Amino acid sequence: MIASAPGKIILFGEHAVVYGRHAVVSAINLRCRVKVKKSAIFKIKSVLGETGLDFDRHPYVVQAVRRFMEVKNIPGAEIEIESDIPVGSGLGSSGAVTVATVAALNAEFDGGMDKEDIFRMARQVEIDVQGRASGIDPFISTFGDSWLFPERKKVLMPFKFFVINLGSRSTAEMVRRVAELREKHPEVIERIFDSIDAISLEAAEITSEDRLEELIAINQSLLRAIGVSNPEIDRTIAELERKGLRAKITGAGGGGCIFGLYRGEKPEGSFVVEPEKEGVRIEE
Ligand code: MEV
Repeated sequence: MIASAPGKIILFGEHAVVYGRHAVVSAINLRCRVKVKKSAIFKIKSVLGETGLDFDRHPYVVQAVRRFMEVKNIPGAEIEIESDIPVGSGLGSSGAVTVATVAALNAEFDGGMDKEDIFRMARQVEIDVQGRASGIDPFISTFGDSWLFPERKKVLMPFKFFVINLGSRSTAEMVRRVAELREKHPEVIERIFDSIDAISLEAAEITSEDRLEELIAINQSLLRAIGVSNPEIDRTIAELERKGLRAKITGAGGGGCIFGLYRGEKPEGSFVVEPEKEGVRIEE
């Protein structure tokens, strides 16, 4: 069986959402496909190499198998991963591979799970691997579409976005860094989270491109304030601003992807993504 799940773009609210604030997130038209075949042993194949149940190399897939085996004991499986989503760059590659793996295992081994069960298991896997997490990545990869979190309210997102990938980094590490800063300066950081919360709430109602771009710029400044930007991100965003464009980090930051509103002009080195309606699905 093959299952596929979309990646995601966090438009507003990353990090603050881990502390109960709002975020606006869209599934995007880049997917991860996972093929699962019954077998006597476990084999996992991806761009990261060919392994057995090697947690260090394929943490999300291995943990998804372990959690699935709590529902249904299986002797082995051949698992093949193929993805359009750049790895570790903030576009939800880990969430998508986790959701698609759980869905493909469920389909191949008749696990009897519905979409909500798939989301819950993928969310548990994310917590197992990453520690603290909001759950938005597995949610959006399971259900697709554009949402305001945490209340799961659908939002209209009639825009496309340009994305520039500035390399991979660890989400867990970035989430830990924000937690440390918050511990040192709770009053300051909580107020920044409140401002990010207000941005997400305003963005969820927005239809004007100009206003959305203003919020992109403000949210980026606040992300910089909580320490998840870096000199390369700052430089790239400053160059875009000189050309009249606005951009911000999407996801955990510290590298990864930045994005801005696509208004017909694609900056050098960027690609364009658009919101995707469909979440996880069985391909065959
Ligand atoms: C990661 O895609 C987004 C973060 O807000 C972490 C999370 O929500 O779990 C940084």
